[in-house]
Amino acid sequence: MQEMLVRPVAAALAAHLGVPEAMLVGLIAPPAKGQAADFALPCFQLAKARGVSPPQLASELAPVAERALPGLRAAATGPFLNLTLPAAAVAVAMLPVLASDPVVALRSAVGAGRTACIDFSSPNIAKHLAFHHIRSTMIGNALAHLYDAAGWKVVRINFLGDWGTAFGRLIAGWKREGLTLDQLAAAPDKVTFLNELYVRISQAAKADPVVEAEARRWSKALEDGDAEARHLWQVFKDASLAEFERVYGLLGVRFDSWKGEAFYEDKMGPVLAELETKGLTSISEGATVVDLTAQGFKKPVLLKRADGGTLYATRDLAACDDRFREYAFARSIYVVDLGQGLHFKEWFAVAKRLERPYAESLRHVGFGVVLMWNDEATAETPVGWAKGRSRGGKVMLLREVLEEAVDRARAIVAEKNPEILGDERERIARSVGIGAVVFNDLKNGRTGDVKFKFEEALRFDGETGPYLQFAHARLCSIERKFAEKYPEDPLVLLSPEEKAKVPMWLNLEEEKAILLAIARLRSALERAVESDEPSILAQALLVLSSAISSWLTAGNAIVERRVLCPHPEQSAARLALVRAARASLGEGLRLLGLVAPERM
Ligand code: ARG
Repeated sequence: MQEMLVRPVAAALAAHLGVPEAMLVGLIAPPAKGQAADFALPCFQLAKARGVSPPQLASELAPVAERALPGLRAAATGPFLNLTLPAAAVAVAMLPVLASDPVVALRSAVGAGRTACIDFSSPNIAKHLAFHHIRSTMIGNALAHLYDAAGWKVVRINFLGDWGTAFGRLIAGWKREGLTLDQLAAAPDKVTFLNELYVRISQAAKADPVVEAEARRWSKALEDGDAEARHLWQVFKDASLAEFERVYGLLGVRFDSWKGEAFYEDKMGPVLAELETKGLTSISEGATVVDLTAQGFKKPVLLKRADGGTLYATRDLAACDDRFREYAFARSIYVVDLGQGLHFKEWFAVAKRLERPYAESLRHVGFGVVLMWNDEATAETPVGWAKGRSRGGKVMLLREVLEEAVDRARAIVAEKNPEILGDERERIARSVGIGAVVFNDLKNGRTGDVKFKFEEALRFDGETGPYLQFAHARLCSIERKFAEKYPEDPLVLLSPEEKAKVPMWLNLEEEKAILLAIARLRSALERAVESDEPSILAQALLVLSSAISSWLTAGNAIVERRVLCPHPEQSAARLALVRAARASLGEGLRLLGLVAPERM
């Protein structure tokens, strides 16, 4: 949308220089930080072609630009031509477009016709979702929304860790203790029930080789498809899934495919056989490996253990072949912590050696760890930032963090806005509490570590989810007040000629700042998708909300600056801006996975 604003200037400059207009549109960008301008044209390349110095060219172009658009200010600042547009021109260009499609700033067609597979969350069965699972889950969820908004077809995949020796152990423990399905069904928290069983059987197996042998037998029985073992495995899996679904429900996350590791258990033969036929494998101490020294890897990749058991990398390869067959993806993304970087590098390299057509479209989207503030010292965990632990070193479950955030949000909302009651208060508390946790996770570059402290994440000022939600709610409240004062929509009442003039009433710098922030959202969306970095949109939304806040705050002090100002046409223009800003902010929040309440 920025292009739309600079096109008239670009056209005039292009004509003056005798170069294509598109070239200038492509060069004009937001100004360097701290420059008081809306856009800047770097003159390096153009000056070279013209045989002058960049500052010379900037000075030559300034008057050309100013003639192109009445009210435009062009200033040669060293090698840059800084451009400041008149506020009304920005409104005239953008308001009608935003009025006909309020979320247009957050839509792009760059991905049209392409499919992206996004593998995210992918937790291990029979374990809880710990707080750190928020990262893969919500970065993946945001990327799924962002890709979708950028025109891609998106497949959301939960590659459950539902296979491995742990299940043999669980079954052995279950049988030994003579547990029943009714007992599991009666457990208030089934995953905890299974976890505790796992701890007991592991201790027993350590102490007694007979128990260990039993566990192994059950693992083998499960692999061989023994009916009882399979049945119990399914029971454990269903119990875990029910708990996962509960948390996904709180977060508003859904998946299109739940094919987990177990699904690929009997589908790895063809990949292994192909690797062998192509002469890529070798046997090392009985295990099947692929040598990648030529690709710069120090160690070979293990694909099959000496005892015949297959490995994580093999399952990922088989799953990827399956996904490519089913979805013919143009990009396949794995949202998994940076700690698994080598695993992805390795099997991506194997895919390349296999000359898979998709080998270049694989992306490991890594991220840093979560640190929580521990405010209660213990022997192991002093007061301070700790990995996934808070309150005296306790490992926090994702559900516990979300529930506590909602409780805290409920208290804040009750205090700030006591008129909101009952169901509505509950809904708002949920959106704000969960939004606070989610935004805290997404606001900074994903590869860094995230620090989480309830008080900070829930602040209504500063770079938080609640701050953005509050700006959105303020706009909604203005719309409601407007509807009270003008039961008929004032914009609808205007004649077409009057309507066309409405944007000209938006001539405040604060109003231009909002429109520019909206105009920059599309490029933020596209960049976020290109670098798989939701924080780019998060930061763009912070810029938008701070522009909104400055505008509304200015209106608090001066009646003429209010949205509901004494002049009806100006008021109507400002209402249009309120609607546009609210729609863009609300949609931006939705893409990041937050719900934006209408009051709070
Ligand atoms: N289940 C794995 C874990 O918890 C993550 C799986 C990530 N996805 C994948 N295709 N490898 O560590």
